Amino acid sequence: MSIKKIDIIINPDIYYGTRDVIAVALEQYVQKFQNIKRSTRGNINIDPLQRGGILTDQARATLMEWGDGYSVCDFCPGVLDMIKTPPIFDFVHKALPEFLGIDEARVTNGARESKFAIMHSMARDGDWIVLDQSAHYTSYVAAQRARLNIKVVPNSGAPDYRITPEGYADAIQDVIKETGKSPALALVTYPDGNYGNLPDAKKIAAVCHEHDVPLILNGAYSVGRMPVNAKDLGADFIVGSGHKSMASSGPIGVLGVSEEYSAKLFEKSPTHKVKEIELLGCTARGATIMTMLASFPTVVERIRYWDREVENARWFSAQLGSMGLVQLGDNPHNHDLMFFEAPIFYKMSQTAKDGRYFLYKELKARNIHGIKAGLTKYFKLSTFGVSRDELNIVVDAFEEIITK
Ligand SMILES: Cc1ncc(COP(=O)(O)O)c(C=O)c1O
Repeated sequence: MSIKKIDIIINPDIYYGTRDVIAVALEQYVQKFQNIKRSTRGNINIDPLQRGGILTDQARATLMEWGDGYSVCDFCPGVLDMIKTPPIFDFVHKALPEFLGIDEARVTNGARESKFAIMHSMARDGDWIVLDQSAHYTSYVAAQRARLNIKVVPNSGAPDYRITPEGYADAIQDVIKETGKSPALALVTYPDGNYGNLPDAKKIAAVCHEHDVPLILNGAYSVGRMPVNAKDLGADFIVGSGHKSMASSGPIGVLGVSEEYSAKLFEKSPTHKVKEIELLGCTARGATIMTMLASFPTVVERIRYWDREVENARWFSAQLGSMGLVQLGDNPHNHDLMFFEAPIFYKMSQTAKDGRYFLYKELKARNIHGIKAGLTKYFKLSTFGVSRDELNIVVDAFEEIITK
């Protein structure tokens, strides 16, 4: 007799006689989860999402040491950021604020969690937030989860997709006209995750402050890659992503706040006195925070060489430009994340055996990963931390695919 799950639910007595059946059923799945290899290991990975999150050797060793569950909680006096050994306290309360150029900092479970915590603490249901049109979807959903209305600052469209301080002034004025009061917050994406554009955050902050609007700087693709200082730019809040740009195992983010808003953002629970409400008490507890600490010295060091990264990006953009690909967004470019229009690949895809998947497959055959499968006409990539030798391999691959 074959016993189905439904029989067991209807007649649980069967269950006790059928442990083996269940074990066998589960076993088929369990086998699937063993020894899974990462097929992209060893490839040149130019996916913007991956470049800044590659672990340092130190962090890789730390991952093994601290990989068990809530490993750091063995040493907890009540709240994560107060752990003295390992030196999480020193990281969160001393090194991180200094690194971000801000008064107070915390770690979170990602840039999106940082944004949501700010929005939820600073605004009430129905308040308004100003976002740039190039904002990441997580900025939108964080605002939606906090039940805010969103006013969008339009970008200039193709080919530059520029976001301007004037756009922020207009959006703020629009909200004031419509509601009689200033928006509760504004956010600028620095740079955005599509074009890698770096808007003039300093001027945007000045415009926001003229209207008493606190500004969030979303540095998911800048904090940990390039020098960013919230105070120098005039941002009231700064957000970063550890897995995206701070060589950390995800998910982990960072959050910085000026003294003016820190008490509001980090309000403590009336019932659990040491726990901060917006952080749900404790955030990154284990391998994620420990890899962030382990990579931090390298991250601090690597931002000093940002000029070299920009030089590499511009060189790469010029090489692809000479093959007829057009780099959109800021040009000359100021960041490693770049967006290309490639009419030539689109044309080739029309007759290629693998259709629109041909580019992905051609690159895969050359151990290059990171351009999304199925994209040919428009795609983004990153050159962050890719050596000139490897960039040359990528450039040669593009050339070969075009001239083959
Ligand atoms: C600009 C930007 N901000 C935020 C995020 C989300 O970051 P996290 O995964 O740390 O929440 C992304 C993800 O790609 C992004 O591109």
